[in-house]
Amino acid sequence: MAPHKKLKISAVVGTRPEAIKMAPLLQCLTAVPDIETHLISTGQHRSQLDQVFSFFNITPDIDLELMKENQNLNQLAARALNGMDALLEETSPDLLLVQGDTTTAFAGALAAFHREIPVGHVEAGLRSGDLQNPFPEEANRKLISTFTTLNFAPTYVARNHLLAEGVDPSSIITTGNTVVDALYTISNKVTELPKDVAQAVISNHRLILVTAHRRESWGEPLKNICSAINEIVRRFDDVEIVFPIHKNPKVRDVVFKSIPEHKRIHIIEPLDYFDFISTMKHASLVLSDSGGVQEEAPTFGVPVLVMRKTTERPEAVNINVSKLVGTDTDEIVTQATAALSDSKFADRIARTGNPFGDGHASERIVSAILTWHSGKTPYLSERESFVFNKPE
Ligand code: UD1
Ligand code: UDP
Repeated sequence: MAPHKKLKISAVVGTRPEAIKMAPLLQCLTAVPDIETHLISTGQHRSQLDQVFSFFNITPDIDLELMKENQNLNQLAARALNGMDALLEETSPDLLLVQGDTTTAFAGALAAFHREIPVGHVEAGLRSGDLQNPFPEEANRKLISTFTTLNFAPTYVARNHLLAEGVDPSSIITTGNTVVDALYTISNKVTELPKDVAQAVISNHRLILVTAHRRESWGEPLKNICSAINEIVRRFDDVEIVFPIHKNPKVRDVVFKSIPEHKRIHIIEPLDYFDFISTMKHASLVLSDSGGVQEEAPTFGVPVLVMRKTTERPEAVNINVSKLVGTDTDEIVTQATAALSDSKFADRIARTGNPFGDGHASERIVSAILTWHSGKTPYLSERESFVFNKPE
């Protein structure tokens, strides 16, 4: 008898958030004996990615080591497409999993499509409706949707975007976001503030966690964000800003020039995932333009002011647990002032829960993949899908 052929799945990641969001899914996939999993890292990020690999104890099977300081999008995309093509030729998986909307995800999906390898898109269907915001991610995720076989939409909002674009309903599985699965692996262990942060801040002060890195904010908008931070510490003498700064030199140059030294502003190196989440849990407020951070904060009842023009993650904004504030200095300061004075914010979030996921997204994805592999439609009923229950 011929030996039983395993389902060969490759997954590709390149940046910090892709690795965090793929980690729980990889864990679930490797637990299935009939699946052989192969992890490709493009190395689009280096130190920020390695922090995640080391935290989740992940070793990629291959690393394309694509990061170069300040390379532009076409240079990166071309190198990623080339590298992925060679790998896919060599390994010919039955399915390639990509996550989100980065250049790695786009190039990976395109390379698989060219080689007629089915693509599974984790976090499919997010849309801001504006190709410039976020740039280039809105275009990347729309392009990925055009050649995806299995669309793992995190929420019904995302599912509806795909349906509106004419995507075959039987290819869409509503799973919740795997970022919440990742959080559940650590949320019980997260208790204390990380030692370095605790030593830097005054313990009875309120903590504001800041992150900012978006390409469309480089230059003026990022300067405005920095001016808002300077003004917030001037206005409130009981707040401490903790700002783990992205490794991108385009971000660093502006931030270091625009925020003068201040004893209550702590610009620090990127925190590892555990320490970042621990800091988030202790924060009174988060100011961020990050996608993942918007999805994580509701779990801890921490309000987020989203410093962007648009968000493709309206689920939290719609239930008033985060707010879209743009990048205008005065507006950020006004909204931060309001949020810091709103004692009901945290209660509101505690009542609603996290609208992005319930910690079971990876299980749903694996189950859908197995159903698809057996030749059936990977359908999940509404009861089996992730449906966010709004409060009364
Ligand atoms: C990328 C993604 C973005 C995602 C973000 C997560 C694209 C187009 N953008 O943006 O969608 O939200 O990652 O953080 O895919 N760098 C380092 N070390 C690192 C990481 C980055 O030095 O560990 C520096 C390098 O100089 C690199 C630059 O940052 O060239 C930019 O990195 P890149 O991946 O091109 O874009 P991001 O802005 O990080
Ligand atoms: N994160 C981290 N350390 C940090 C900042 C962020 O581990 O210093 C994590 C965070 O918990 C979230 C993810 O990185 O899961 C978000 O990544 P990023 O903001 O770089 O990308 P985006 O989500 O905007 O694509």
